[in-house]
Amino acid sequence: MKIPSVKGFHDVLPDESVRWSWIEQQARDVFALYNLVEIRVPIVERTELFTRSIGDTTDIVEKEMYSFEDRDGSSLTLRPEGTASIVRAYVEHALQQREPVSKLFYLGPMFRRERPQKGRLRQFAQIGVEVLGRDDAAIDAEVVLLLHDLLAALRIRNPRIELNSLGDAACRPAYREALRAFGEARRAQLCENCQRRLERNPLRLLDCKSSECRAATADAPVMLDHLCAPCRAHFDAVRAVLDREGVAVRLEPRMVRGLDYYCRTAFEVVAEGLGSQNAVGGGGRYDGLVKDLGGGNVPGIGFALGVERLVLSMADDAAGRPLAPEIFIAPLGAAEQEALHAAHRWRRGGVRVELAPGGKSLKSQMRLADKAGAPYVLILGEDELAAKALTVRDMVAKRDFTRAVDLTLSADALRAALAQLAQQPMEQRA
Ligand code: HAM
Repeated sequence: MKIPSVKGFHDVLPDESVRWSWIEQQARDVFALYNLVEIRVPIVERTELFTRSIGDTTDIVEKEMYSFEDRDGSSLTLRPEGTASIVRAYVEHALQQREPVSKLFYLGPMFRRERPQKGRLRQFAQIGVEVLGRDDAAIDAEVVLLLHDLLAALRIRNPRIELNSLGDAACRPAYREALRAFGEARRAQLCENCQRRLERNPLRLLDCKSSECRAATADAPVMLDHLCAPCRAHFDAVRAVLDREGVAVRLEPRMVRGLDYYCRTAFEVVAEGLGSQNAVGGGGRYDGLVKDLGGGNVPGIGFALGVERLVLSMADDAAGRPLAPEIFIAPLGAAEQEALHAAHRWRRGGVRVELAPGGKSLKSQMRLADKAGAPYVLILGEDELAAKALTVRDMVAKRDFTRAVDLTLSADALRAALAQLAQQPMEQRA
């Protein structure tokens, strides 16, 4: 009986994993340019970490977390995102005492029990960045520049960075109240979900996907019109830097983000190739979070990109192909052991070798070699074994060099021998 995978949990097969590795490498390269260092945190945390940080009226906490009771009765959760865990680790290890500013990145799986569709899974991977310890507008701009450079390095098709400000503790309460009053006056036109959220989390009104709610809230007040002077100055300063650096962003006054910890600068990235799940990434500032999770008064800002969505929206030819073997060894008859011995020596010397199993005809070996894409096939049959020299087939020029390479060569000598064969004029080839 076959046992299928769990709904929303996907395998990444070799065809696609090349793109994943490439994405990770590009990201690491860009992070190094910005002096970010990697942090690795567990995928399981205490449930309260997420309820307290993400917010208990968010979709994630209300209905998407994989929570379970551990054997000792405690409630644990597979992380739905990275920020809460990073901040927990930051507080737990008192990183603020080691360095005034921490610039961190992370890669790894996250879990949300959403309805699966294209670009939306229950296990998905994020590449994320968190900068802790700075609250100035320049760092917000720098984080957006980093995001912009990363999208370029990943060759994402038509990315667009959308920007908003979500205000702070000084100006948001009054705005919240204004939005709540606005929604209250239109309660009958709102979906059940939004009606329920009016009291506890009115900002979510702006985020509802239902067309009725969208129509009813088309002229809802927006945070940008309610910013206090410091939030306004901060937002203007962020935009001024982005302008100066020539990074185009689009103001999106209705964007509120799906997690509650944000304040001031918030942003999302949309791109081509994603259908209705068009956000490849999102992030923003979260100045109260470290304190809420038991740490000091440390501001933070960051973002995360979804790897599955990056794969869908990157240029088709962006990632290279995996490196083909440099040589393919085809043992015939009883030569398997000697072939393995030579392959082992050459691999230890840094040569990429594909070793075919013995007991096959030369024809079927050549078929395999063709598929493997190696430029040289080294044939080891009875005659070659007796002469302790392999026959080389140059797959590009389609010519054979009979017993041309000594079986006992070192890896370096093998490379030199193959290079020499390639330089021989055609007519001298056997
Ligand atoms: P988020 O917007 O919830 O933010 O997720 C970031 C990205 O993760 C999304 O834009 C999307 O690409 C990907 N993603 C989310 N859910 C799924 C899913 N079910 N299937 C596939 N991809 C998904 C955060 O998680 C914040 N922690 C970002 C952040 C970091 N804010 C500050 N620092």
